Amino acid sequence: MNEQHIFLVGPMGVGKTTVGKQLSGLLHRPFVDVDAEIESRCGADIQWIFDMEGEVGFRERESKVLAELVADKQPKVIATGGGIVLSDDNRGILQASGLVVYLSATFEQLVERTKRDKTRPLLQVDDREAVIKQLIETRSPLYHQVADLVFPSGSTQPLKLAKKLAEAVSAL
Ligand code: S3P
Repeated sequence: MNEQHIFLVGPMGVGKTTVGKQLSGLLHRPFVDVDAEIESRCGADIQWIFDMEGEVGFRERESKVLAELVADKQPKVIATGGGIVLSDDNRGILQASGLVVYLSATFEQLVERTKRDKTRPLLQVDDREAVIKQLIETRSPLYHQVADLVFPSGSTQPLKLAKKLAEAVSAL
């Protein structure tokens, strides 16, 4: 197990970055956030990339970063963006390159956790709840498809969840 990357997948607002940072500390391995990596390579934030290149351009960057990250074999904790599972290729890479943990949450929890969000382009719409509902419907099966482990994250304190995850991963 120790030789594998650990990927955190799941919807926007579920806490992948926060839990991932805690988990990386507990497991003493580097943490990488795919969104942050895209932004630092591009020198612009995600909203700018969506504005200039559309979602298609963003997805290309996302796939490229994922492929490059897994090419480096040093085991890491990798937090992914909520839409990474949309691409067949990305799903194949995730499944082939490490342990995939799906952090899940209910519709109500996601609505609550994203209600003040101003940075995620897909959520800057009038009817945010409709978008969240639709994303859950289309993406939940894809998260399940790639996941080795599923952890409900919605109401659990991040450090507590990270500790549970570290235990589960270490027991494998
Ligand atoms: C997206 C999720 C975001 C980010 C981008 C698109 C999505 O990441 O990649 O805004 O399609 O769900 P987080 O899940 O980390 O918010």
